[in-house]
Amino acid sequence: MTTLKTERLCLRPLVAGDAEAYAAVRCHPKVAKWLPPVAGEPVEAVRGTIGRFAAAWQERRYAPWGVFLEDRLIGHGGLNFVPEFDKTEVLWALHPDAWGHGYATEVARAALAHGFGSLKLDLIFAITLPDNLASQAVMKRLGLTYRRRVDYKSFTDIVWYDIDREAWLAR
Ligand SMILES: CC(C)(COP(=O)(O)OP(=O)(O)OC[C@H]1O[C@@H](n2cnc3c(N)ncnc32)[C@H](O)[C@@H]1OP(=O)(O)O)[C@@H](O)C(=O)NCCC(=O)NCCS
Repeated sequence: MTTLKTERLCLRPLVAGDAEAYAAVRCHPKVAKWLPPVAGEPVEAVRGTIGRFAAAWQERRYAPWGVFLEDRLIGHGGLNFVPEFDKTEVLWALHPDAWGHGYATEVARAALAHGFGSLKLDLIFAITLPDNLASQAVMKRLGLTYRRRVDYKSFTDIVWYDIDREAWLAR
């Protein structure tokens, strides 16, 4: 498992003890409205998510990190393999108190550098709902390019951005 430090943040794998703080972010109404629904009681539900991330760390050597600002969990972000597309996405979600500081872009930039650098991935994508302009602004700041609309889980016609390693290295 990989832990990274960025200029202002610590990115480390989530553990069971993070469940309560993670549920407060992941299930915050202003965050949850943009993400696939989690079923059941929030802390119990995110325990399942943390377990899936732990399995991905073992299986693939990457999974989304918990994002920590001075030891406080403010969100999740990083690389996530999506079997439906057989590709790796970069994702992010922060507690509303942490919006507007450039933290999501900072996390995602570190994730892309790790994905293209250490993990040698060929392409990384990001998807979101068409009206999630804040998330698309992060994608554009990172240099991802809009390609098409796709369906994913319960979401139809969502926007797909991506960047390949060559384009990332040429930036
Ligand atoms: C998507 C999301 C992570 C974007 O957060 P964000 O704070 O807007 O994005 P960033 O962290 O990149 O911050 C950029 C903002 O910080 C500002 N900022 C302030 N200080 C900054 C700094 N030091 N460096 C960079 N940007 C800074 C930028 O000007 C920009 O503000 P603007 O949007 O008013 O122009 C956030 O809206 C979120 O968690 N939403 C709910 C979950 C979600 O939608 N996840 C994505 C699902 S696909």
